[in-house]
Amino acid sequence: MTTEEQVARYYTHGSLERTILDALAASGKDIDNLAASDLSLIDEFHLGWRAATVELGKDLGLLPQMHLLDVGCGIGGPARYLAETYECRVTGVDLTEEFVEVAQALTDRCGLDDRIEYHQASALALPFDEGSFDAASLIHVGMNIADKATLFAEVHRVLKPGGRFAVYDIMRIQDAPLNYPMPWAETSETSFVETPDTYRTLLTAQGFAIEQEQSRRELAMRLSREMRDKAAVEGPPVLGLGVIIGPSAKPRMANVFEALDAGIIAPMQIIARA
Ligand SMILES: C[S@@+](CC[C@H](N)C(=O)[O-])C[C@H]1O[C@@H](n2cnc3c(N)ncnc32)[C@H](O)[C@@H]1O
Repeated sequence: MTTEEQVARYYTHGSLERTILDALAASGKDIDNLAASDLSLIDEFHLGWRAATVELGKDLGLLPQMHLLDVGCGIGGPARYLAETYECRVTGVDLTEEFVEVAQALTDRCGLDDRIEYHQASALALPFDEGSFDAASLIHVGMNIADKATLFAEVHRVLKPGGRFAVYDIMRIQDAPLNYPMPWAETSETSFVETPDTYRTLLTAQGFAIEQEQSRRELAMRLSREMRDKAAVEGPPVLGLGVIIGPSAKPRMANVFEALDAGIIAPMQIIARA
């Protein structure tokens, strides 16, 4: 099995749309009349959740006439938030077939299908012509991709000259072993966590100019502590990442929080310009 097949299999839930709709209904949402904001506790599959996407959106400088490519869009949380907030067009691509189907179904339910489209594709072979997009984002995806040089070359190819690329990945800030499973990988075989320095070097080599680099570690730690404190009192939330990840969420989340708290990894945002 290739790395991409292993990665897609790891993320595949099997009955994700039904599970999400049941969780939404159980928490009192009207699933026949959904707003994108109803989904914000389950459709942001990254540290810092919606708050991190809000910051990324501000730093990307999106405008209504722009077309954003979200590489590794998952079930479309960032795509829906950014399309709705900035009134821009968004195209999402993702390796995991089920995520693409669920992204489309949720987007249809939120009435955002005129602004967002999704494609099942690899970030290493983007199915778009050169210069197709005004901006691009990559949110917690690079940890699954060994060949980041090809990834950044592909994003650079499909961006218009001067277009901004927001990378928001978990990066290594201390050389110490990671415990698995992680939310993105069962074992180290499909995990490729790199340092900010490696990201900067590879982005620059593909023609990007680095504009900004920011750690979101404090934000992620604060929100994850709040979530854990609440769960310790009330039990696991009805709406949380456990809905997407399934029964294995607990050990996967525990390992990522442990490495975050220990200062081995941090969610880092880099804004680069093509
Ligand atoms: C942790 S999730 C993040 C999803 C989304 N960006 C978000 O923040 O909610 C990682 C996503 O990257 C996708 N992915 C991993 N490797 C990929 C690749 N080579 N090409 C496209 N998507 C990929 C996975 O299928 C998964 O949906």
